[in-house]
Amino acid sequence: MAKRVFSGMRPTGKLHLGHLAGALTNWVRLQNEYECLYCIVDWHALMSDYADSSRIRKNCKEVLLDWLAAGLDPEKSTIFVQSHVPQHAELHLALSMITPLGWLQRNPTYKEQILNIQNKDLGTYAFLGYPVLMASDILLYKAEMVPVGEDQSAHLEISRELARRFNNFYGEILPEPQMLLTPTPKVPGTDGRKMSKSYGNSIDIADSPEEMWNKIRTMITDPARERRTDPGDPEKCPVWDLHKVFNDDKEQHKEIIKGCTTAGIGCVQCKKMLMEHVKRVMEPIHERRRYYESHSENLRNIILAGAERAQILAQQTIDEIVNSIGF
Ligand code: ADP
Ligand code: NA
Repeated sequence: MAKRVFSGMRPTGKLHLGHLAGALTNWVRLQNEYECLYCIVDWHALMSDYADSSRIRKNCKEVLLDWLAAGLDPEKSTIFVQSHVPQHAELHLALSMITPLGWLQRNPTYKEQILNIQNKDLGTYAFLGYPVLMASDILLYKAEMVPVGEDQSAHLEISRELARRFNNFYGEILPEPQMLLTPTPKVPGTDGRKMSKSYGNSIDIADSPEEMWNKIRTMITDPARERRTDPGDPEKCPVWDLHKVFNDDKEQHKEIIKGCTTAGIGCVQCKKMLMEHVKRVMEPIHERRRYYESHSENLRNIILAGAERAQILAQQTIDEIVNSIGF
């Protein structure tokens, strides 16, 4: 039987090209080899946005549209919303019983995030327990593999430790999930930093080609290349990083490196070449997004069917757990 894969994303708004190249492209590939479950984790979004939850529902729809546009296929994968499957909450409670506080307090991303996110009081019980809910998401389906970015590896380690600890108390029920590290470089945003919604430097999947070109046209390049006649260094240029992600024409790669380092081509020309590749990659993605935008009854059916399938698997695990605890 095919191995089971689980991954999720928080519904925080429209997804961008970093999500596409850094996660979704890989998720789409995994669909053909594994039994995949892809979950829009709205409870996780509520953890940081509990004071204003009004956009979570709308954001779930945006994420679903972006996922389907990117090529996640509801015929191949189980695509669903976390809160539609209440068993996530039940397993979260069960795991919280055996979670040592020290594991959560030591979690480096916890310390980092609690200081970074502005104007939000994240000193809550739930936010400290973020990795416990994440472990529940994965272990509920006995997922064997979890594709994650490097930023999530500490969290996944807690999931593995929780599975081991649970099994020690109650018997071999929960397999330890393996990390499947996504081999994609950081996708830079228009300002050269990592593309991220919170930096305001993102190119969204849903942006039209015109909007994308406006962002790419004004992107920063190698700062040392002030004039058209200055030679540049591709390794210091975020436009080149985007070429490496979206441009598969190796001959053109050589042309660009030579042109840039000898001032043979200008940055605008280089950006135009990049835009052609982005346009080509995005065309079928935009077409699928437009299709689903105008077929909202399909969206509803997809997400209901996904929840139904996920609930069946989830309840099997919960039954085993409740039994072995001895309730
Ligand atoms: P979440 O809060 O749901 O973890 P993020 O916005 O941090 O959402 O992104 C989810 C995943 O998408 C990350 O773990 C990473 O794999 C990928 N990702 C996001 N932004 C980028 C980027 N700029 N470059 C590469 N991958 C990215
Ligand atoms: Na993240």
